[in-house]
Parts: sequence; structure tokens; C-alpha cells
Amino acid sequence: MPNIVVVGTQWGDEGKGKVVDVLTPHVNVVVRYAGGNNAGHTVVVGKEKYVLHSIPSGILHHGCRCVIGCGVVIDPGALIEEMETLVQRGISLDGNLFISKNAHLIMPYHPALDRASEAKLGSRRIGTTGKGVGPAYMDKAGRVGIRMADLLDERLFREKLEINVAQKNRLLREIYDAQTFTVDEILNHYLRYAGWLAPYITDTPLLLSRWIDSGYSVLFEGAQATMLDIDHGTYPYITSSSATAGGAATGTGVPPTRIHGVLGVAKAYTTRVGAGPFPTEMKGEAAEHIRARGNEYGATTGRPRRCGWFDAVVLRYAARINGLDTVALTKLDVLDQCEMVKICTGYRVRGEVITDFPVEESVLSEAEPVYEEVSGWGTPTSHVKNESDLPAKARQYVERLEELIGVPFCLISTGAVRDETIVCEDSPLLRWFPSVRASLL
Ligand code: GDP
Ligand code: IMO
Ligand code: MG
Repeated sequence: MPNIVVVGTQWGDEGKGKVVDVLTPHVNVVVRYAGGNNAGHTVVVGKEKYVLHSIPSGILHHGCRCVIGCGVVIDPGALIEEMETLVQRGISLDGNLFISKNAHLIMPYHPALDRASEAKLGSRRIGTTGKGVGPAYMDKAGRVGIRMADLLDERLFREKLEINVAQKNRLLREIYDAQTFTVDEILNHYLRYAGWLAPYITDTPLLLSRWIDSGYSVLFEGAQATMLDIDHGTYPYITSSSATAGGAATGTGVPPTRIHGVLGVAKAYTTRVGAGPFPTEMKGEAAEHIRARGNEYGATTGRPRRCGWFDAVVLRYAARINGLDTVALTKLDVLDQCEMVKICTGYRVRGEVITDFPVEESVLSEAEPVYEEVSGWGTPTSHVKNESDLPAKARQYVERLEELIGVPFCLISTGAVRDETIVCEDSPLLRWFPSVRASLL
């Protein structure tokens, strides 16, 4: 049974939640491998809308086992709130949700440090979600982090907490002139969280290994995206985890030899939340039109997303870094009313056109997009069931993207709900999950 990674190819919010939701009926397990509650994955089921932050989107399917892997950082208070909201809406978690013992905790001082650091950065601020994700990963890499397993051992938890609070309070007070924390206050809250979460905390790499041995199929749900990856993204305007496909192995403990394929999710245009380079960014009315039609407001912070044209340079880079086997193209319907649609095929830098994504911050900041224009189709696409039934110009747009990226498309999403999804012919997806088409009819 295939184990497949679903990864964002742009700057996040490509519609990973929807794609995972569409594929979940064909797998047994969905595992999150990176990021924290900075993620916001929206799934629309009929008239119901769910926004998942830390819990895999697979949870909406009865019987699907959902794992929060060791590569994820967890704010236990926020996680419990998310769990309660799901339970209130009739979703069952017992026996379906498993949390890695090795996942690191987001502690109350992490969001405080996140906000204080952003304030100090001034014009070089990243525009983080303020959830404390960066500082939590700093502690993980700095080997002073506190893990889910520590939460279950009061003595060890207190010992680690005392060291951290002393250190963080000095930072907050002396560097940032910000509010400090007390050990007892945090301990009180976190021991209550421990009681809540204990039944779900387990050795998830062992579980995943056993499940895979027994023939279960696993979907790895990416959070954030390629261009936000700590190593491969537009550093320093990135998040702090390994969001690319490579992170699926380290972030879950499933070895690379047991992962069989990678599916990239790409929006038919581009968005970005927060600061940092964005070569194809649109300004003015064009951006407003896309933002309004695509409802491009952050699922976690509500911030308006910056909008831009499709960037094939970014997609080719994402194809290379993630080893994409196939791409799910989303939100094609958002472009239905555009008179003309642009595709960025290269960047002009210092008089030369380059087609490989430049990794240097200084080069990228000078990159001028080189565009190809395609005329719009002016016809709704949301009801379309087959690629061949798309308006001719929409088909032309999709085919040109596919050609520029050099990776076959497997799905074309034309609306937020499950059945607004076209399954493409001849993609690896149908080899992995032969009944996908039937399940969407
Ligand atoms: P994620 O973080 O990658 O899971 O993406 P988000 O959920 O943050 O943002 C994608 C948004 O677009 C959500 O509100 C989805 O419900 C919505 N969406 C997904 N696919 C489509 C589509 O094909 N068309 C439209 N109009 N909306 C879509
Ligand atoms: P999903 O999974 C879009 C962005 C933030 C900021 C940068 C760093 O829904 O695609 P952080 O809080 O992680 O330190 O912020 O990363 N960012 C996202 N942008 N979608 C996301 O998640 C994001 N997660 C983080 O806006 O620019
Ligand atoms: Mg999102």
C-alpha cells in the first residue's frame, strides 16, 4: 500500500487540507510531519467548514488514524481547544488520534519571544503568525526543548521548566523589555494539559512502522510549504521547520525507503502571508480581485494574503527539491473571470533571464518576472468533471503550466468542496489510489 507525501509547493495555503481530505478515504493513516499551529488547513464538507491547525485533516473521516509526528511543535492549550471543538462537532478522537512522545512543546514563553523578536526586527520582521513556532524550534535545535514525553514525568518536566524559565526570563527582561513568567503558573496549566493529553501520547514511529508492516497506507500531510522551508525556502522569510518532502521522514520516523511518492499542491496563482520576496506579486485592483474571489485571508491569523501570478520558476524549484511525482492544481475557478492571466516563466536579473530559482536573498530581491500572457476563459469551471470539458482556454492554461513544470497533474480543484475536483488521466495518483475517480463522481 503506497505511502505518499502531500506537500505545499509555494508559500503555503495552496489547499493542502482539501487535497488531503479528498485522498483520505484511500488511506488508513494521515500524519502531520512539520510545523505547528501556525498552519491553517481548511476543509469544507457540504455546508460545514473546518479549520485544522495541529490535527491532521484526515480526522474528519471516521476511522482514519491521525498522527501528530515528532517534527511538529505542539501548543497543548491550543491543541486541546482544537480537540474540543472537533468533539463538539461530532468528530471522534479516541482511538483515532496519536501524538508523538518526541514532539516538542510550545511553551508560554515561546509566543512571547516570537512577538518580542518581531518587534525588535523592525523593517526586517518576518511577519510570523506569533504562535511561538520559531522560538520552539530554536529550543529544539538548542537542546533545551521540552517534549511531549516530558509532560508525563512531573519531576523531569519541572526540572527542564525551571532551567528554561530562568533563561527565558533574562532574555525577555534584559533584551526585549517584555513580561516574564513564573514556573508555578506554567506548571499548573501544563500539568492539567498533561492529564488531558496523556491517553494520546505514544511512540508514534513504532506505531507507524507496525501499521505499515501490516499493509496500512499512510498520507503525510505537509504544513507550510517549500518556499517556507527552513533550508530551501526564502530564508530568513520562512518558518522554522522542514516543510519539504524530506521532512516527512525525519518528522515522523518513517524511513525514506518506505515512502513511495510525493504529490505537490499548487494554487493556479500564488499567495504569500507575511513578509519576504514575492517576485510575481500583484498590486492594486488585480490583487483585490483575486483576494476577494479566492477569499485570500489567513486561516490562522485572518491577515489578507498577498496575491500574485503563477510562478513556474518556483514550481520547477519545488518539483526538484521535493521530487514531485505529480501536482494537484487548486483554485482554478478563482481565475474564471480574469480577462487575461499571466504565467511567470523566468526572472530577469541584472540583464539576464534565469529559469532556476535563485537561492541568494540579494539576487531574488532584484528578480523581475518574465511573463507569458494567456487570455482568460470567462466561463465558470466549478461544475466541470473532466479535464476535457474545461473551457478551451482554461485547458490551455493548465496544459501550459504542466509543460513548464514538467510534472503531470493529477487533480484540478475548482472549488472548496470535495466534489469540485477533476481527476486527470494518466497520473501516478491513479496508480497509487485507483478508486479516486470513482469516489469523486
Ligand atoms: P492549506 O493551508 O494549504 O490547507 O490551505 P488553506 O486552507 O489555508 O487555504 C486554501 C483555501 O482555499 C481554503 O479556504 C479552502 O477551502 C479553499 N479552497 C481549496 N481548494 C479550492 C478551490 O479549488 N477553489 C476555491 N475557490 N477554494 C478552494
Ligand atoms: P499552512 O500550513 C501560509 C508564514 C508566516 C510567516 C512565516 C513565519 O496553512 O500553509 P511562523 O509563525 O511560522 O514563524 O511564520 O511563515 N506561515 C504561513 N504562511 N500558510 C502557512 O501554513 C504558514 N505557516 C507559517 O505568515 O510569513
Ligand atoms: Mg493554510
